[in-house]
Amino acid sequence: MANLVILGAQWGDEGKGKIVDLFSETFDMVVRYQGGHNAGHTVRIGERTFILKLIPSGILRPGKQAVIGNGLVIDPEALLTEIGMLESMGVDIAGQLSISNRAHIICPFHRVMEKLSEGRPGKVSIGTTSRGIGPSYEDKIGRRGIRVADLLDREYFVAAFDVLAEEKDRIARAFDIAETIDLEAARSRYLAIAERIRPLVRDTSRQIHDAMRSGSRVLFEGAQGTMLDIDHGTYPFVTSSNASAGGVATGAGVPPTCIEGVVGVSKAYITRVGAGPFPTEDKTERGDRIRELGREFGTVTGRPRRCGWFDVPLLRYTAMVNGFDSLAITKLDVLDGMDEVLVCTAYRLDGREVDDMPATCRELDRLEPVYTTLPGWRSDTTGARQYEDLPANARRYLEFLEQQTGIEVGSVSTGPERTQTIVRPGSRLDTLLAAPAARGQSR
Ligand code: GDP
Ligand code: IMO
Ligand code: MG
Repeated sequence: MANLVILGAQWGDEGKGKIVDLFSETFDMVVRYQGGHNAGHTVRIGERTFILKLIPSGILRPGKQAVIGNGLVIDPEALLTEIGMLESMGVDIAGQLSISNRAHIICPFHRVMEKLSEGRPGKVSIGTTSRGIGPSYEDKIGRRGIRVADLLDREYFVAAFDVLAEEKDRIARAFDIAETIDLEAARSRYLAIAERIRPLVRDTSRQIHDAMRSGSRVLFEGAQGTMLDIDHGTYPFVTSSNASAGGVATGAGVPPTCIEGVVGVSKAYITRVGAGPFPTEDKTERGDRIRELGREFGTVTGRPRRCGWFDVPLLRYTAMVNGFDSLAITKLDVLDGMDEVLVCTAYRLDGREVDDMPATCRELDRLEPVYTTLPGWRSDTTGARQYEDLPANARRYLEFLEQQTGIEVGSVSTGPERTQTIVRPGSRLDTLLAAPAARGQSR
């Protein structure tokens, strides 16, 4: 079967888009299983940069099927914008993209509802992307959401939209956050978009099953990261979906047994956007330096990302939750100029070393990282083609991460471009990627 999951091992923005784009070469289908346009996955191909939010990064390879699974929440207007962007760049949307009829939609009033938790005095602000993601998932779990299949049923949609809009309006007024949205105009726009996407909508679970049965290889692309997972992340400073490997089965409608491997994407350091605990955050000028060198500003919101050092206990935890077979380490080149590099190898809480990841933010905020300092390599790794070409101290750093996390470093990325990646020959990752030549040629 050789179906693979690629997902974030930290707090998102690990470089999943780049890795999925590269590895999708030997797959036939790429599937997103959760999240929405809170994601921003950057792919650099030569001089061209693509930022994908809802559509799987595999769409950039001609002939590959790209599937938006049932586990996503879709803002129809954001979807249309993304489709337009890709079409203008020559991507064959009609031939490659499909959208689950069971995915939920985000409506304009969901963004207003987000202000209930984010903008009000006295409430802890999560620092969300303000895209209406959480409120749309709330309606899904509350069994009052509107799905893509409903959007295509004009009569049903109009009634469901109006009922939900009215309910949200009452809530908004009660909390003094009412905003004037032209609901009629929004409803009409949604109905128009429904006709545009109608040919792309199907039972994607069935489609994925049929593809697997006929021997196609499927790659599942995570959004966000495991520490933002609604169940396993730093709750409540998380997103509203299961970004971890468990989300694949429910969010794509496939059995867990169809997954052969799980690859965790991790930066050579760590970043976080938005609020919440971050044990290895470096608030000194060293953290500022990483932000500058790594251009660590949000892809979706442009916010500066908080920066810090590689966190081994965190990685061990996300490896446990997901069952990582291999790590794809990205942005090694960002550390090129550092005299020394820190790695957190343990946590202390109230004076004692802790083995488990604490469940509460009260405890997470009190964690004290124990650091090991390694010498930097102070030479340019950008675009290194072979592992052996990396400076000795860079290899030493990566091998230290392997030894500490217990997971192989199967690939190393040393630049944003598709080709600036090393896959280590003979690694488990190399075996998982190796496959009969996939259909479709490279762009
Ligand atoms: P994603 O959300 O996990 O797909 O990651 P983002 O696209 O939000 O952020 C990753 C950023 O790092 C993007 O701007 C990428 O182009 C860039 N990037 C990815 N890998 C590398 C790398 O190895 N080196 C450098 N310098 N940049 C990288
Ligand atoms: P990709 O796929 C990094 C963060 C937000 C906020 C929290 C909840 O590009 O890695 P939400 O809007 O989802 O309700 O916000 O999650 N967040 C991300 N951080 N990368 C992402 O996606 C993110 N998607 C959401 O900043 O802290
Ligand atoms: Mg991103």
